[in-house]
Amino acid sequence: MSEEPILSVKGISKSFGGLKALMDVSFDVQRGEVFGIIGPNGSGKTTIINCITGFISTLAGQVYFKGKEITGWKPHKIADAGIARTFQIMRPYYSLPAYKNLIIPLWSPRARKTGGWRGGGKHGDRDTVAVDILEEIGFERDSRVPYKLSSTLPTGYQKRLELARCMALRPEIIFCDEVFSGLSMSEIAGMLPLIEKMRDEGITLIMVEHRLRELFRVATRVMALNFGEKITEGEPSFVIEDKRVREAYLGTEEV
Ligand SMILES: Nc1ncnc2c1ncn2[C@@H]1O[C@H](COP(=O)(O)OP(=O)(O)O)[C@@H](O)[C@H]1O
Ligand SMILES: [Mg+2]
Repeated sequence: MSEEPILSVKGISKSFGGLKALMDVSFDVQRGEVFGIIGPNGSGKTTIINCITGFISTLAGQVYFKGKEITGWKPHKIADAGIARTFQIMRPYYSLPAYKNLIIPLWSPRARKTGGWRGGGKHGDRDTVAVDILEEIGFERDSRVPYKLSSTLPTGYQKRLELARCMALRPEIIFCDEVFSGLSMSEIAGMLPLIEKMRDEGITLIMVEHRLRELFRVATRVMALNFGEKITEGEPSFVIEDKRVREAYLGTEEV
């Protein structure tokens, strides 16, 4: 691991009033990894994504992307640098057809520089690129799902739409906040190959997940949080055997 990490998080702390949501959390992610972040409800998983991606400020700590400090940057600047994220609470534009949700990311400075995913995206034809991206992420073009109103999409498609909006930026890193939650086993089974495909395209994935079994099928390494503190980190088989992880999840999750 002599290579410089694509993402390096050093000593992040965050409080909400008197509540210490994150305490001195550090971790490194190498390019090409699928890095999992696990922990019981309220352990700080979404908060750490929010801190790294600039949606909330931090009390202490630094974030480095490819060796460059990005601490305190605004979310749009971080996205433009190549770090995308999904939202645990999905936020599509409900009144728009699915593919139109990709128009804003496709107009972003980054997508304009890169030409949209896979260099498609001729000017004036972003609708086609949007549908292409949706198709890559499992919206069958022939079924007309890409053209359906976002508000009418089943959860599985809304989760995919979150990923598609990330892909439109041609990011180097995607933070996924519980993309498997609310999905049936068969929907998750359909989603796993997409995760693998993104990884194979060279995207580094950082996945906050509650569905441990499914996460552990794709994760290279996992970090566990509990009450805002990092309790362990390592390969899935190592983390799952950790006594503190088992205790943290006791009664709340199948480990
Ligand atoms: N904006 C906020 N204001 C106050 N408390 C918050 C806020 N966001 C999160 N918290 C609290 O911080 C803790 C960590 O939350 P969160 O990161 O959402 O947990 P997780 O994603 O692991 O379930 C929880 O106790 C939560 O109630
Ligand atoms: Mg969360």
